[in-house]
Amino acid sequence: MRILVTGGAGFIGSAFLNRFVPLRPNDEFLNLDKLSYAANLGNLEPIASAPNYQFLQADLADENQLSTLDEFQPDWIIHFAAETHVDRSIRGPRDFVESNILGTFNLLEWARTNWGNDPQKVFLNVSTDEVYGELGPQGAFSEASPYSPNSPYSATKAAADHLCRAYAHTYGLNVKITNCSNNYGPRQFPEKLIPLMILNAAEGKPLPVYGDGSNVRDWLHVDDHCEAIWRVAEAGQSGETYCIGGGHDVPNLEIVQNIAKLVAARTGQPEAPIQFVPDRPGHDFRYAIDASKIKEELGWSPNHTFEAGLKETVDWYLDHPEWVASVRSGEYKNWIATHYGEVAR
Ligand code: NAD
Ligand code: TYD
Repeated sequence: MRILVTGGAGFIGSAFLNRFVPLRPNDEFLNLDKLSYAANLGNLEPIASAPNYQFLQADLADENQLSTLDEFQPDWIIHFAAETHVDRSIRGPRDFVESNILGTFNLLEWARTNWGNDPQKVFLNVSTDEVYGELGPQGAFSEASPYSPNSPYSATKAAADHLCRAYAHTYGLNVKITNCSNNYGPRQFPEKLIPLMILNAAEGKPLPVYGDGSNVRDWLHVDDHCEAIWRVAEAGQSGETYCIGGGHDVPNLEIVQNIAKLVAARTGQPEAPIQFVPDRPGHDFRYAIDASKIKEELGWSPNHTFEAGLKETVDWYLDHPEWVASVRSGEYKNWIATHYGEVAR
């Protein structure tokens, strides 16, 4: 089988490739990635020279750059590529519209033109629970939840999901959609909550918590997410949506306090101070997932406990200073200075 993975140089795409390229030696994998600020080919070091893996630098937002796929002719497309950071989408939504909406549209057009309604082909759109908006103190999102995206990021992911559903309904394209909660684990770009806090804590910098820290996210280890994606691609129903979550929804403040403790225990330094900073505009209050459908229909459930996974993640960042240095480019420093001002210096 020939598998196209888009966005495979990012956090989740690289975890997917690092896991399945060695496990599936008879399948051929093509990683298509434009290499944005969030990408890092160093993430793929474990498989870089594998005979069943190749890399192609291309931007999905430019339809002309997809013609190379005519030669590869994938059987599966696992579509990870996207602009993914909510705060960046608030400061500048254009890249999100281009990559997440136009990029997905171009890829769907390639699939429609080349595959038609062939049921053997699979287009899996990797999406987020953020398309459902926010929850109050109770309840959980499920496949039946209405779409109600609140940030420019989630609006563009919702638009991509809708295009996918329309292509399944109208053209019979074999599309599947997964909506997952917040991922954590090694190699996540340190603009996101968990790696940002680990690195700040290791450097004795304040830990910038938005608002009062009561916002709740559900956390899933990236390897559990990748396993779920494979199951859906292989056995999920055509045209269906699957919600994926870790069943571990906790307030941000609790996560940040845990990280401060874990880093202090590991380094012997005093615990880094928490600093409450102005809230994110339009900050969704709570996300939680009811993952019964994927559990019951496809027999998936997470293997990592959050406690062990978080400790392992803290250790990974502290053990890989060269990786950290390689992703903290000038662009990263500019982002931190612009977004956090004096707080994180
Ligand atoms: P990431 O930001 O770490 O990586 C995204 C990758 O996509 C980068 O390598 C980037 O270069 C590439 N890319 C962006 N625009 C592109 C374009 N126009 N053409 C080609 N490549 C492009 O993201 P991630 O955290 O790995 O997320 C992967 C996918 O999973 C995204 O679709 C995201 O919406 C979804 N998702 C993420 C999470 C999470 O917690 N990280 C949770 C649920 C869903
Ligand atoms: P983030 O990792 O950006 O993921 P998302 O916005 O997609 O859920 O943020 C996770 C939570 O952490 C979210 O509620 C915002 C909060 N947060 C902070 O409190 N401080 C920070 O510096 C960051 C980056 C996030």
